[in-house]
Amino acid sequence: MGSVSDESAIQQVDPERPDPDVLATAARLLHEGHLVVFPTETVYGLGADARNPAAVRAIFEGKGRPATDPVIVHVDSVVAARAAVSEWPATAQALAERFWPGPLTMVLPRSAELPASLAAGRSTVAVRIPAHPVALGLLREAGIPVAAPSANRFGRISPTTAAHVVDELDGVFALLIDGGPTPLGVESTVVDLTGARPELLRPGGVTLEDLRDTLGEVDHLDRHVTAEDQAAAGPGTLLRHYAPSTPTALVEGGVELVAHLCSSLERRGIRAAEVELPEDPSEAARVLYASLRSADTSGADVLLVRTVDPSGVGRAVNDRLFRAAHGRVLVDAGPDTLERLVAIVERPAPD
Ligand code: TXA
Ligand code: MG
Repeated sequence: MGSVSDESAIQQVDPERPDPDVLATAARLLHEGHLVVFPTETVYGLGADARNPAAVRAIFEGKGRPATDPVIVHVDSVVAARAAVSEWPATAQALAERFWPGPLTMVLPRSAELPASLAAGRSTVAVRIPAHPVALGLLREAGIPVAAPSANRFGRISPTTAAHVVDELDGVFALLIDGGPTPLGVESTVVDLTGARPELLRPGGVTLEDLRDTLGEVDHLDRHVTAEDQAAAGPGTLLRHYAPSTPTALVEGGVELVAHLCSSLERRGIRAAEVELPEDPSEAARVLYASLRSADTSGADVLLVRTVDPSGVGRAVNDRLFRAAHGRVLVDAGPDTLERLVAIVERPAPD
């Protein structure tokens, strides 16, 4: 491969058996301070050498991400995870044994070896060992901790295919490793182990039930929302995360309610489209972001989407839908509901 300094290169690989030459090139680019996009089992990540403050800064700039929102550090082993943190409690060991490699991120006290900027100045750091053979192969080849948020513009929908990444971040990264669609479809579970009790900050691939099974009590605020100006207090809990450009509302009700709302809007000259998701929560997770992206380009004035079965990864799907809808939940077909919907179209979400 030639110079990649001023344009983004894309290399396709077999997701199960990635070409070692591609991984070697990607590892070299990371060592040189470039950004590399790679698939994980959850979503695509925009990676940089976590020890290099300039490379970490390039992630924030490339995504348009506020410096107040910390990123996850990806490692290839428990030994490497322990090097990224300054304390390794028994809870971390138990979770690592059961869920790593996998879609679980732990927040722990940060090692002084890592730049404060990747943790948005906090004394903590988020770490995980991803399970995807491409991510794991790259981490092993590079032999360094890799900071990687989801490879999308800040506040937008996370990418589950290489095309999604190119749509938003072309020119930002030196190399994109295309390993096809990511298998899980929603981001990792984030659990904070620095408080008196473990707290689930973001539901994801590892369920709350799984966590409670390992740790006993785990705190969790459903539909936890942090105001924009308090982002530093609750990163990842902003309402404008994971959002389509088209105004979106979450419907707690059956297909009949959605059909009724669509036809009522139609009569007022407003085009509403339903984002239809599969019944099965795992299937819904897998297609969630691609479905939101395609609905977003359908030309509708407003998108309606129903909550899914909250079991398993369904909790994570509903969490992302709630944020995609900027917290706007509709529960019945009354006149108030219709007026709220019209207002949503006329006054799109606060940005
Ligand atoms: O599945 C995933 O986790 C993907 C793939 C690429 O690994 N990554 C991802 O990263 O979703 P990002 O940056 O989009 O989301 C990281 C989440 C955010 O909600 C962030 O606020 C939270 O983790 N987070 C990171 N560091 C934290 C910290 N020190 N304390 C609390 N929350 C933290
Ligand atoms: Mg993200």
